[in-house]
Amino acid sequence: MTFLHSISRASFNSFKIVAFKPLSTTLPLTRQIYPATITGAIRCLHASKPKTLKERLEELIPQKQEEVKQVKKEHGAKSLGNVTVDMAYGGMRGIKGLIWEGSVLDPEEGIEFKNLTISECRQKLPAADGGEEPLPEGLFWLLVTGEIPTKEQVKVLSAEWAARSSIPSFVEELIDRCPNTLHPMSQFSLAVTALQHDSNFSKAYQSGVNKNEYWQYVYEDAMDLISKLPNVVGRIYRNIYKDGKVPPIELDKDYSYNLAKILGYSDKDFVELLRLYLTIHSDHEGGNVSAHTMRLVGSALSDPYISFAASLNGLAGPLHGLANQEVIRWILKMRDTIGETPSDETVKEYVWNTLKSGAVVPGYGHAVLRKTDPRYTAQYEFALKHLPNDPLVKLVSQLYKIVPGVLLEHGKTKNPWPNVDAHSGVLLQHFGLVEQNYYTVLFGVSRSLGVLAQLIWDRALGLPIERPKSYSTELIKKMFEEHK
Ligand SMILES: CC(C)(COP(=O)(O)OP(=O)(O)OC[C@H]1O[C@@H](n2cnc3c(N)ncnc32)[C@H](O)[C@@H]1OP(=O)(O)O)[C@@H](O)C(=O)NCCC(=O)NCCS
Repeated sequence: MTFLHSISRASFNSFKIVAFKPLSTTLPLTRQIYPATITGAIRCLHASKPKTLKERLEELIPQKQEEVKQVKKEHGAKSLGNVTVDMAYGGMRGIKGLIWEGSVLDPEEGIEFKNLTISECRQKLPAADGGEEPLPEGLFWLLVTGEIPTKEQVKVLSAEWAARSSIPSFVEELIDRCPNTLHPMSQFSLAVTALQHDSNFSKAYQSGVNKNEYWQYVYEDAMDLISKLPNVVGRIYRNIYKDGKVPPIELDKDYSYNLAKILGYSDKDFVELLRLYLTIHSDHEGGNVSAHTMRLVGSALSDPYISFAASLNGLAGPLHGLANQEVIRWILKMRDTIGETPSDETVKEYVWNTLKSGAVVPGYGHAVLRKTDPRYTAQYEFALKHLPNDPLVKLVSQLYKIVPGVLLEHGKTKNPWPNVDAHSGVLLQHFGLVEQNYYTVLFGVSRSLGVLAQLIWDRALGLPIERPKSYSTELIKKMFEEHK
């Protein structure tokens, strides 16, 4: 497909919104290098109207396809490392066997979204008018394109998501019929599966669309799905914990504002917290359970809805996303047992008792990280700024002083430092969102941004169905006994 052809196709295919006047005529790029002719053409087109995300993606895909072709040609036969028997038994820890474009996790530095650290994202991604935290719309743009969007582009994306946000009445009824005792994550997964009814990709596949066009339908599904999540999760929250009435989405407001509103929260600091929360929980490279599940299921050409539902089911496990629910439960129990302002010694004893009972200390440890999770630090900084005197925040900080030492002394955990879940719950508690069982749902909304951005690329790059090789213990014994 030629560049100009891709532009006209993009205009034809893209979701049209009559929205805002462009603020900027240039496109800020992070790490992209373009031939002068292409850059010139982009500038020229920009002079009239900023590109939508889909239009920009149409331009980037052929370049990336070529880049991947070159990488495979040049490095395809090279090894990424050894695989040992321990690794195969040990949850594949350390096996480098996935390509994931949106983010890379460094054990010491933490996550980088397209080469930007969390703190760089907080500085560089567009914020809302009057706000400071990054808008998750901007993060999604960054994950999909590798570029920092303009404020104007983010506004158009916010408007596009709001415009796509309604959910079919049968999905509303399905949610309404769930018993309040059904965990919010199960309701979330059910509703996302049901949204599959309207999958563009699924319909296109059935009608025999050319595989070169798969990504376009996956893109439309991803955009629809992300857009519909506030109505899905808002309804779940209102049904279980409130009066079941769901307020409408405001078409001229950003995603986090609408999510806060639908949950029933209008405090501007809470909206800012959601913006930060949705940004930092979005992506954590490709090997974690929710990301890898999405990739695996999607690789069978399952559509984005059922792939994301599978991802949510993985996120709902207590060693993964559900840990944030476990953390707050554990902290509240600790407070109820030893008081709101315990001595360091008493906290230490409490932590030891948890370990002696055979449980993990939730919110600490990580399969890849070997330092304090920068997502923890970002939330800590938010707390210092917005709620420095909150007693639970103080307890979290006290735990940070004590838990790593105890875990080191305990001697098992490879990483004694806190992860993202160690801090998120107390922030939500502060603003009155006290329903712990609901916390992983917010994590799930955020995770949609990372995994769906990748799923678009999976189809654009034509990645094949995943099929690693497995062995039985008997075969392992045989293989190595023969070589003794
Ligand atoms: C995140 C987690 C699942 C990573 O698992 P992992 O990669 O297997 O971690 P490690 O290699 O450090 O585990 C080695 C041992 O230390 C234990 N360990 C790890 N983190 C621990 C913690 N926070 N408290 C107590 N023990 C812990 C493991 O259970 C394991 O014990 P075992 O040998 O008896 O099975 C683990 O650290 C954990 O369970 N943390 C608490 C739950 C949590 O916060 N999850 C959210 C992650 S973002």
